Amino acid sequence: MSDTLSETDVARGESSWTPTDGRLLDVEDLQVEFRTRDGVAKAINGVSLHLDEGETLAVLGESGSGKSVTAQAIMGILDTPPGFVTGGSVRYCGTELLTMTEKQRREIRGPEISMIFQDALSSLNPVFPVGWQIAEMLRVHRGANRSDAREAAIRLMERVNIPGARQRVNAFPHQFSGGMRQRIMIAMAIALDPAVLIADEPTTALDVTVQAQIMALLAELQEERRMGLILITHDLGVVADVADRIAVMYAGKLVETADVHSIYAAPAHPYTQGLLASIPRLDQKGQELAAIGGLPPNLTRIPPGCPFNPRCRYAQDVCRHDPPPALREVRPGRRAACHFAEDVLADSAREFDHPHHLHGDGGEERR
Ligand SMILES: Nc1ncnc2c1ncn2[C@@H]1O[C@H](COP(=O)(O)OP(=O)(O)OP(=O)(O)O)[C@@H](O)[C@H]1O
Ligand code: SF4
Ligand SMILES: [Mg+2]
Repeated sequence: MSDTLSETDVARGESSWTPTDGRLLDVEDLQVEFRTRDGVAKAINGVSLHLDEGETLAVLGESGSGKSVTAQAIMGILDTPPGFVTGGSVRYCGTELLTMTEKQRREIRGPEISMIFQDALSSLNPVFPVGWQIAEMLRVHRGANRSDAREAAIRLMERVNIPGARQRVNAFPHQFSGGMRQRIMIAMAIALDPAVLIADEPTTALDVTVQAQIMALLAELQEERRMGLILITHDLGVVADVADRIAVMYAGKLVETADVHSIYAAPAHPYTQGLLASIPRLDQKGQELAAIGGLPPNLTRIPPGCPFNPRCRYAQDVCRHDPPPALREVRPGRRAACHFAEDVLADSAREFDHPHHLHGDGGEERR
């Protein structure tokens, strides 16, 4: 712990941001669309979520459900055009971000809210040594001198468990394995001691053993720095042991939110049921996985009624005509956007009465 404090000596600037009652982020009714030649894709259709200090929220959903776009809107790095925030609000420590100037947002991006991307190789600059890239954050944002910044970079590399950090501080990104590069990205993301860290599929490109190690590292850092952590993933299996709450997205909306244990014990939305059924389980090796049949809707032509209806085993006529209710409380602390959430929950309680498992076994990564 004392190591951690010295490591952040350089990093810790004077933050003028203080959460009220521990609330870091408040996203309300966020709407994002992409205006393309094929039409207007309604990527985010009224997403509301919050994040408190020291909390890990997992945002889950299939490819194209709007996870990254939500993160980009929070970070202020949406690709505009074609992407536009058309409504809603994103507040950090109570202050609206969406109306800020780019200069104001730059003061938040990095020191307050930081992000790790899926592909570490393309996020790191290939022509600069990794230590230099980490140190640069501290020179630019904190005005640290070269040698202090270099020492801080080495300590950060040590903190994310890069073996021989002092010897490898001048190595280039291509000289590290995928897992080690992702550790370097994490070191950069925490260099300025942000209050919020958003990790967008941080382990997707890695093999399962390394995935588990990176998740464990993120969980450790989150706890030691009391960060609010948003973990974006399409894989319910990798976040089981680290998330506090889960928000499930489908076609640009949240369809279910709950604490992690409730969701594993009994999902209240048919889509979450499908995601849970497709996690490989250690106690059923070799068994066929129940993938969710069909595809998510084209976001330029979201079907009437419930967007999940063509794939839903619970669908009734009402689902083909009436939009599903907004997220509503099905049980205390459990919200789902489904006409039949109570029935789904009752079935789930029978079908999903099993312990969950991570797929990784925590073995050691080499290179
Ligand atoms: N640059 C873009 N141009 C046009 N449409 C886009 C663009 N980026 C995102 N979209 C639209 O927004 C939707 C949501 O994209 P997003 O990247 O948030 O999905 P995701 O949930 O992160 O998926 P993945 O798991 O594949 O990363 C896409 O289905 C697409 O229709
Ligand atoms: S509203 Fe209807 S179609 Fe949508 S998830 Fe619920 S049961 Fe399925
Ligand atoms: Mg994404």
